[in-house]
Parts: sequence; C-alpha cells; structure tokens
Amino acid sequence: MKRAFALLLLLLFVATSSKGGGLQIVKIDTDHQSFVFSAASGKPLMFRYWGARLSEEDAGAILSACGREKSWELYPAYGGALYTNPALTLVHADGQLTTELVFSSCHSRQLDENRTETIIVLQDKVLPLTVELRFTAFRQQDIVMQSVTVRNREQGPVIVRQIASAFFSLKAMSYYLTHFHGSSNAEMWLKEELLTPGIKTIDSKKGVRTTHNENSCFIVSVNGPAKEDDGEVYGGALAWSGNFESSFQLDDFNMLQIRCGLNPFCSEIRLLPGESFTTPEAVVGYSDRGKGQLTRNFHRWARRYALAHGDRYRSVALNNWEGTHWNFNEKDLREIIDKAAEIGCELFILDDGWFGGKYPRNDATAGLGDWQVNAAKLPGGLQSIAGYAAAKGLRFGIWIEPEMVNPHSELAQEHSEWIVRSGEREIPTLRHQWILDLCNPDVQDFIFGVFDDLLSSAPGISYVKWDANRHVNNVGSTYLPADEQSRFWVDYTRGLYNVYERIRSKYPDIEIQACASGGGRVDFGSLPFHDEIWTSDNTNAIDRIFIQWGTNLFFPTMAMAAHVSAAPNRQTGMSLPLKFRCDVAMSGRMGIELDPRKLAREEIACLQDAVAAYKTIRPVVQHGDLYRLVSPYDESGWAALNYVSETKERCVLFAFSTALHTRTRLTLRLKGLDPAGYYKITEQNRQKGKTGCHAEGQTLSGDYLMKCGVGFDLAKPFESCVLLLERQDR
Ligand code: DGJ
Repeated sequence: MKRAFALLLLLLFVATSSKGGGLQIVKIDTDHQSFVFSAASGKPLMFRYWGARLSEEDAGAILSACGREKSWELYPAYGGALYTNPALTLVHADGQLTTELVFSSCHSRQLDENRTETIIVLQDKVLPLTVELRFTAFRQQDIVMQSVTVRNREQGPVIVRQIASAFFSLKAMSYYLTHFHGSSNAEMWLKEELLTPGIKTIDSKKGVRTTHNENSCFIVSVNGPAKEDDGEVYGGALAWSGNFESSFQLDDFNMLQIRCGLNPFCSEIRLLPGESFTTPEAVVGYSDRGKGQLTRNFHRWARRYALAHGDRYRSVALNNWEGTHWNFNEKDLREIIDKAAEIGCELFILDDGWFGGKYPRNDATAGLGDWQVNAAKLPGGLQSIAGYAAAKGLRFGIWIEPEMVNPHSELAQEHSEWIVRSGEREIPTLRHQWILDLCNPDVQDFIFGVFDDLLSSAPGISYVKWDANRHVNNVGSTYLPADEQSRFWVDYTRGLYNVYERIRSKYPDIEIQACASGGGRVDFGSLPFHDEIWTSDNTNAIDRIFIQWGTNLFFPTMAMAAHVSAAPNRQTGMSLPLKFRCDVAMSGRMGIELDPRKLAREEIACLQDAVAAYKTIRPVVQHGDLYRLVSPYDESGWAALNYVSETKERCVLFAFSTALHTRTRLTLRLKGLDPAGYYKITEQNRQKGKTGCHAEGQTLSGDYLMKCGVGFDLAKPFESCVLLLERQDR
C-alpha cells in the first residue's frame, strides 16, 4: 500500500512537471485511463488526449508527435478564434461579450489512496476574471469528476450566461451516441444513433422531476456502435437534479465536442465583484472494454461514493400504493402487514393518503402540505402502525411529498408567498398541485421541519419515500428579487440539497427513496442523499425489463427498486405469470406492491418462495458486478444478465423470454467467472419442480460456462429462469 502511494506521488509530480519552452503536460490518471492536457503560462490550455492509460513518456510524446495536429482548448470560452459551442459565455462588467482564457497554474494533491484532486487555474487575457477547473480522479473505479468555478474580480457585476461542468473533444472516424428517452411510465429507454455534423442536444427544462424524458447520462462510442465487452466508450453524467444540457457537436474537422452542464435556458447568474459560482460536478469515465466495463465502473464508484449506505443490503419491501391507493384504515394496514410478514417481507411502506387536517388526503386533490396524521383513518397515529409492523418483524417506512402543496390545503392558504408563481399569472396545477419555492430559506426550514417532526413523532420510522409529482411551469419566485429571477433553476436545486444535507446530518441512518413519480429524479446529484430510486411507476414486468436495463446502465442495481405488482397490471392491464413478475423484480431491489389480502393461497406461497430465494441471492445482486448477456433491445425475444460477487465465489443469472420461440433455443455463455473455478448450478425460485435450465444441479468450470455456456427451456413468452452458481472446492 505504502509503495503504491509513493508511486502515485511520483506520478503526480511528473504529471505537472515542465517540458522545454515553459510547456507543461498535465496528466490525470486512473488505473486504466489518462487525460492529457498541455499548458504554457499565458497560453490557452489545450486538450490532447482522453483514453486508455498512457505512460509518462508517451504522454510527453504527444507534444512532439502530434504538435501540429488540430486540437481544441480544454475549456474554451466564447472569444478569440472559437467558433464551436463554447464551454463558457460571460458578459463582463464593462459589457464585453468575449473572454479568452489562458493557463495560469496547476496543482495536484492526493486526497487518499484512491482519490487525487487536480486544480487548473485559467484567467482571462485582459480582465481580472479567473476560472478554476477541478478534477477528482477515482483511481480504482476509473471515474473522474469535474466541476468549474468562475470568480469575478472585476469592478462591476459579471453575467454568467452559460457554464459547462465539463467539455471534451474526441477525435475518431465516427461517433455513436447512446442516450435515454421516454416519459412517465416509460423512463430510461435506450437509443443509440450515429452522430452527424451539427449539434445534438439532450436536455431538461423541467426544474423538478427532470429525468422522465431525457437523462443527463450518455455514452459515446467511437468507430462503431457501442459493444458490450470491447471497443472504446466514453460515459458521462451531470450530478444534478435540476435543468441539464448535454450537447454533442460534430465539427468540420470531424472532431466531437462534448459539453455537459447546467441548462443555460433562462438561467443567467449575476456575480457581484468578489463573488464566485461553482457548477455541479460532471462524472465521466472511459473504457476500452465496452459499455459493460463502463457500467461496472459507474456501479462500483456509485456504491462507494455516490449512494447513501452503498455498503448495506436493501430490505424486501411491501408498499401499499398499488394495493389500496388512498383508501385504507388502520385495520387494513394491520391486515396487510400480517400478510407482508407471512410472505417474508422486511419493510412495510405506508404510501400516500395518511395525512391532512381540514383537507384530508383521500385523493390527489387535497391535503398536500398539511402533514398531520389523519386521525379518522389512523386513530392510533403512525406510532401504532410502526409498532405493529415492528411486532411482526418488519421495519416501517412512510411516503411524503414535501416540496408540493395542494391549493386545497391549509398550507396554501397560510403561505401563498411560498408557492412558485410568475407574478399575478394563474399558477398552473399539475396533478392538482403546486410547487413550494425552495429558493426561499423559510421553505427550506419548513420542509426540513416536515421531515424532522415526522421522524420525532414516530421514532419507529426507518425509511422515507420522498415523492415529487410535477415539474415547474410558469417559473417565478416571490423570494428572489425581480432582477434575479433567472437564478430560480439553480437556487431551487441548491435549496433542495441544503434540506437533504440537514436531514442527512441529523438522520444519517434513515433510508430514503428518491421517488419523483418514479424515474423523475434519477441522477447522481440527489443519489448521495438517497438509498434508492423508485425506478418507474410502471410495474409491468415486461416493460420493467427495458426500463431497468436502461436504468442500471449507470445506476447501481441495489438502488433500483423493482416491485412485484398485481395481475392485471394497473398501468397496462397485462396479466403476466407471477413467477415472471417475481424474477424481474429479483433482478433489482426486490419489493412487492399490491394488496396481499387479495392473493390466493398459491400466490402467497409463490411470493414466499421468491422472497426466500431473493434473500439467498441478494448479496450478489445488490453488491456484485453486472454483466449483460442478451439485450432485450436486440429483438431476439430474450433478455439475460448475470451478477458476479467481487471474489468471484458466487454468480446469479437471470434469463427472460419476451416472445414465442418455435425452434430456436437459448444458450447463454456466462461472463465474469473465474475460468479456473468450478461452479455448482442451482436454479432459484423454481416452480412446481419445473426446471428452466439444462445444467441444473451440475458443477462446471468457469471456463466451460464462459466458453460453451448452458442451455435453457425458455420457449414461451414470459418464461424465466434464475440460477445461482457457487464455487466449489475441488
Ligand atoms: C407517485 C409515485 O410514483 C407512486 O409510487 C405513489 O407514491 C404515488 N405518487 C402516490 O401519490
């Protein structure tokens, strides 16, 4: 360990050492990736390389070997010779629209054995304005975070019109962009396309619940579509829960400029003399082993650095939402908890409808904002339900939507000044609700208070589902001054993060789900405050295969809540086999979302088996490395993946049939095993003794399993199979 640390220090020294003529190479490394920039005092900072790890010698050679090739500034402001999308656009105190950034200094420091920070300072050639680029490299996970700070040292205010968190130029023959699209109930669908000359933009201007349609995560594959296990891919995401914009400009040199940051839409920021502004972090990574490795890097990084309690296991939950909606009383909940305990669940989550005073929350039209227990429904209060759950061996969780208010609420009547509104214009409702203005510190205090009061009133609560069921329209804040309204988008999200920080410092152990209508807040900005996301309000298993496939391209499986719901499915009306519904949920963070009192005895037994099986495979599914085997997007009519524990001792495989197969049969070659190890195969969650896998019960070598594979009887639509492979001593 000491030797590795000493070597890293040496590398850091080399990274910033001077070459001849005052030219300096700045090199940022992780275990398998390097960034190389060239810098000279008073000259623009040039981007030279981002790709597989380079030796110091080869990084230095970039200057002599490629010195005359076209290259772009690492962080080009609008000004000088620039004619591509800029990384930064400012209006200076004297009204100048142009900025020319030149290199001033660079320093690096080792934060710990895994993380290195490099700060590069740029300054305008003429005016006293500086820009700092801050990179944090996570060595083992091959991930780098970047943020940018602009400091106004001018005599008057500077307007920041647009500021990227990261800006990179790639040079290849062709570029393929993988990004996400969708809508409520169909989030995180994948789309891959060849980039052609011009600018492709992915963005959100919704302010809240920003990831339903598009997501800031992207993959760029060079010289061909992204492959699973080989080829070069570049991944990125903005760690931010507000408006974002990622743009991809293919220029006339056939170079690609990737710009990733806050959405500049109506978002100017005024900096007074002496003030500074720091962007959210962009998170980026490179892999020359395809998008499979990129996924594993993002998952490992997120579990350690960007997800609350990434080292714990998640409980099997039963949530009453799809089972009862708003219609329940204490007796109903006790009966549901009884059944949840019988099934083997570990957590009961009480969803929407438990609160409201003068305006009880019996549907979506009233009560949001009035967070008192509805005594007509729950005369014993929350503590009584929490206590009952505990007596049955279950933890207790509760739903809140504290950023929102119904017009029919006491809160809306008492604090109309807290509501997001544009002057005297009508305030549009969505799902019958308005948004509270989190730019306002009083609103932040109120929301923190909602959480704090709730947790102190019922100490049995150990899980909170945090919902947010609309986005921003007719933006405006009565708190922000008239000439600062464009700060809304950034200040709302920062206000939200401020509340989360206060909650996390007082309640470090509580588990929190980012719900946001399902799929609406799937980002690395809010994730560190949350234990999981509610992946989608669409619980139909066949749709979930696609939604989950997209979601855990970047986001860890343990954070991807996946619930078994009733048949027919509430969203689609489809009735899929219960085993298939269970197996799809078991490939994420398994839970149940139905009224278990309505289930037949055999269905309860089937859920009991599935939950028991999930508890056996949970450590591998939740903490293992994900390898994708067959994509549902490939239209073969199958989808398959396997997880492998870090030590390669255990592996869990999921295979799903999504169509009718007449003569073709599925053979799967596993991935990520130890070729020299021997693995015993046991099918999990088997039904009525039927096996789906030809190799059930056999012990085979990792090499065999990865080269020859195993065959499956999954010919009919919605058949599925789950295997556990355990390494045997030989
Ligand atoms: C939207 C969420 O996604 C659902 O799971 C449920 O909590 C409802 N809101 C409750 O209103």
